[in-house]
Amino acid sequence: MSRAKAHPQGWYDGKVAVVTGGGSGIGAALVKALRAAGATAIAADLEPPADGVKLDVTDAGAVQALVDDVVAEHGRLDLMFNNAGISLIGETQDLTLAQWDSIIDVNIRGVVHGVAAAYPQLIRQDGGHIVNTASMGGLMAAGLLTSYVMTKHAVVGLSLALRSEAAAHHVGVTAICPAAVNTPILDKGEFGKIRGRDYFLKGQGVRKPVDPDALAARVLAAVAADEALVIEPVQARIAHRLQRVAPGFTQRASIKFVDRQRKLAAR
Ligand SMILES: NC(=O)c1ccc[n+]([C@@H]2O[C@H](COP(=O)([O-])OP(=O)(O)OC[C@H]3O[C@@H](n4cnc5c(N)ncnc54)[C@H](O)[C@@H]3O)[C@@H](O)[C@H]2O)c1
Repeated sequence: MSRAKAHPQGWYDGKVAVVTGGGSGIGAALVKALRAAGATAIAADLEPPADGVKLDVTDAGAVQALVDDVVAEHGRLDLMFNNAGISLIGETQDLTLAQWDSIIDVNIRGVVHGVAAAYPQLIRQDGGHIVNTASMGGLMAAGLLTSYVMTKHAVVGLSLALRSEAAAHHVGVTAICPAAVNTPILDKGEFGKIRGRDYFLKGQGVRKPVDPDALAARVLAAVAADEALVIEPVQARIAHRLQRVAPGFTQRASIKFVDRQRKLAAR
């Protein structure tokens, strides 16, 4: 696939995309943006929209069957967005093994299933792109979100390693690493006193979470330009840079951050 630094509009024309978790939030915004840019986008979700397909990404066979169906119907698959994800927020000692399993199954195995189904097809076609939705939690380690952070680090590692391997096949790989985005996930996955919306917004001093449509537009431009990581907003890019130059400082700040979150939850 040829790359374009310019406006991605023409680049997406006629391309075929699957977006897991396409029924809500970031996934729904990606589907909308892809269609507006001229692509065919299939929204696959546990709770799909009316024009989408039902999919559980923890079911490897179902993910493979979806990719096979898309290729049978459209002749190809150009873009695989492994975006479905869940969060768990709270004290790690309160987390059950069943919860650990569920977040590993959706956030790690779900992405693995998408890669296992789509990557060989993209190689056969001599090109395509895999876009994995990680998180800022895939680059930085925020406490009280420990299981989620683990899964998102795995997604970043998978994406960057695969990227170096896939380049020779003309397959690009991009990991999306946003800080808080304004989607329903901010109110999901709470299992103790910590409230998700407070954690992601008040506790981090975020006045305005990232708009999903703005993020989707940024992602489409980044994929067309074959960027490795999409880190949004600018404050997240600054924090990521700071962590690399001053990891000790970031670690101490993380301890204070957890303390602040606990106080906020106790109010
Ligand atoms: N919103 C944020 O602040 C934020 C920040 C960084 C990363 N992310 C990541 O973005 C992705 C999308 O999250 P969102 O914010 O749009 O949340 P969301 O809850 O609005 O959407 C997630 C979608 O995934 C679907 N889903 C969950 N489990 C699934 C499964 N097993 N199979 C198929 N679909 C499943 C849900 O039904 C839902 O429609 C996730 O991977 C999330 O971790 C979100």
